[in-house]
Amino acid sequence: MRVAIIGGGIIGLAAGRELLLRGADVTVFDPAPGGTGGAWHVAAGMLAPGGESAFEFPYLEPLLAASNELWPAYAAELGEVGYDDAGTLSVALTADDVAEARREWAHQKLAALTGSQVRDREPALSPRVRAGAFAPTERQVDPRKVVAALRESLSGRIVPRLVGELSGVADEADAVVVAAGCGTAALTGLPIRPVKGQMLRLRGEPGLIAHVIDGVADGRHVYLVPRADGEVVVGATQEERSDRALTAGGVHDLLRAALDLVPGLAEHEITEFTVGHRPGTPDNAPILGRLDDRTVVAAGHHRNGVLLAPITARLVADLVLTGVADPLIDAFTPRRFGCA
Ligand code: GLY
Repeated sequence: MRVAIIGGGIIGLAAGRELLLRGADVTVFDPAPGGTGGAWHVAAGMLAPGGESAFEFPYLEPLLAASNELWPAYAAELGEVGYDDAGTLSVALTADDVAEARREWAHQKLAALTGSQVRDREPALSPRVRAGAFAPTERQVDPRKVVAALRESLSGRIVPRLVGELSGVADEADAVVVAAGCGTAALTGLPIRPVKGQMLRLRGEPGLIAHVIDGVADGRHVYLVPRADGEVVVGATQEERSDRALTAGGVHDLLRAALDLVPGLAEHEITEFTVGHRPGTPDNAPILGRLDDRTVVAAGHHRNGVLLAPITARLVADLVLTGVADPLIDAFTPRRFGCA
């Protein structure tokens, strides 16, 4: 079966690799096959099924959990992709922050720890941190390494082409997978919008922090994702905007919260500022399913594109190759928005 994948971001590449492994003749169309324009390039790579589960869309949690279970083996297959299972410490600075965080911890069924208990696990945390919780199954991977490995697995099959209309690939494929992130809206009419995120990358002595830190400090949310080489990814704003401006307020809020929680980061060098756009849907859950007999959509992964890549790849490959949808996919159909 000839399968055209539209979009060479993490979702399109993961689907392409899976289809190729299952015997399909795969071509991925992307305007810049070796480029860094995708949301994956900005993303920190938190694999956080609990911390990123939306209260408002109950079907998302089982999907996030199922993909999280796939990640250890998936990362091993891909090679050295920065997979790290030290776990995540969710922390709160002030009494108000603790009150907000406790709701999250209860939802995730995590036991609350005192400030000194979280500092026992992560000594670089500020003495001002009042409370926290440890989530051992919330891990991290480096999305830039993941994409490099996925590109390698699809070597020679990623074609530099901007697909402006689905009919443009109609004659070249038996099945089409639309995985164009925010660009999926223009191709399909599906309601996918850009949700801006500003991020920073810092660099210092490796080992200042060992866990992913997901924190709230004076009402400012931040996550800190430490890599083995001393890089710390600091994220992220969440703004209903489509511009690419790095703003004083955005950077201030991220740095302020980061330094309030881990004062030692003040000595780190700022090595990168990035702005990206998460592809969001009206319920902020992905759109997975058939648009028509030939076309499958896998887009709108919002805050969870990296986490959901392995399960999305499997579900899409099942649908394309067998025509049978796993029940897990039902809730994510494009039909929920009156499409297809
Ligand atoms: N998953 C983290 C973010 O979207 O900022």
